[in-house]
Amino acid sequence: MPSPYPSADSLRARLTPPVSAITAYDYPTGRLCDEAGVQLILVGDSLGMVVAGNPDTTSVTLDHMVYHTEMVRRGVRQAVLVSDLPIHTYDHPEMALESARRLMEAGADAVKLEGGFQQIAKIERLVDSGISVCAHIGMLPQRVREEGGYKKKGKDKLEAEKLVTSATALEKAGCFAIVLESMIPSVAAEITSELSIPTIGIGAGTDCDGQIRVLHDVVGGYPWFVPPFAKVYGNVAEVIRQSVSDYREEI
Ligand code: KIV
Repeated sequence: MPSPYPSADSLRARLTPPVSAITAYDYPTGRLCDEAGVQLILVGDSLGMVVAGNPDTTSVTLDHMVYHTEMVRRGVRQAVLVSDLPIHTYDHPEMALESARRLMEAGADAVKLEGGFQQIAKIERLVDSGISVCAHIGMLPQRVREEGGYKKKGKDKLEAEKLVTSATALEKAGCFAIVLESMIPSVAAEITSELSIPTIGIGAGTDCDGQIRVLHDVVGGYPWFVPPFAKVYGNVAEVIRQSVSDYREEI
């Protein structure tokens, strides 16, 4: 039976470098990002931080992701819609498949999961079942606790080589795109030149096929923490504070 979901090839064809990608978490942000013309919208598990106010993404559950994916789906017409598999929802291939199916039923076009070689069997299981997968290597937010913070990857030769070989293995496993997070720009550039699938960087320099950012970092919606690589284009936090304050004063 043919897969009811978009194929990896069809999704890849919709990503033309320079690929513009951003996160969204609900109907209005999904719709606004789609109307702004980005090529890929990610329902990121970063929602655990910028929406739910937790210190990292590790408290996000599959139920949270399903709920937010459904909201964003209602607003997205053009962009490729990818949804994150949260931590411990893809510990083995069958669990990955069951979890990914729930995100696809919620309206995702594809799922994203974090990690390199250790994820190959899970990715192959998803791809064989007709579910397209975006990979994510470099700094892995779901491992921030084990790693003791957000650290740049690829600083030594061994780590850099491992990133390049794992990226190649992820492409071979059938991923349609790959996020490169917080790594030395020359390593991201090497991965980009080795792979034929699009590389989408965040804190990985400019020599990627595209860039992804957390919506709140771009619009200035989470002023209490802004990552060092973020360029802030708006001041949504101030617009909200000022509008609510004006409203309160008028009462
Ligand atoms: O959850 C997220 O927002 C992400 C991006 C940082 C790529 O994975």
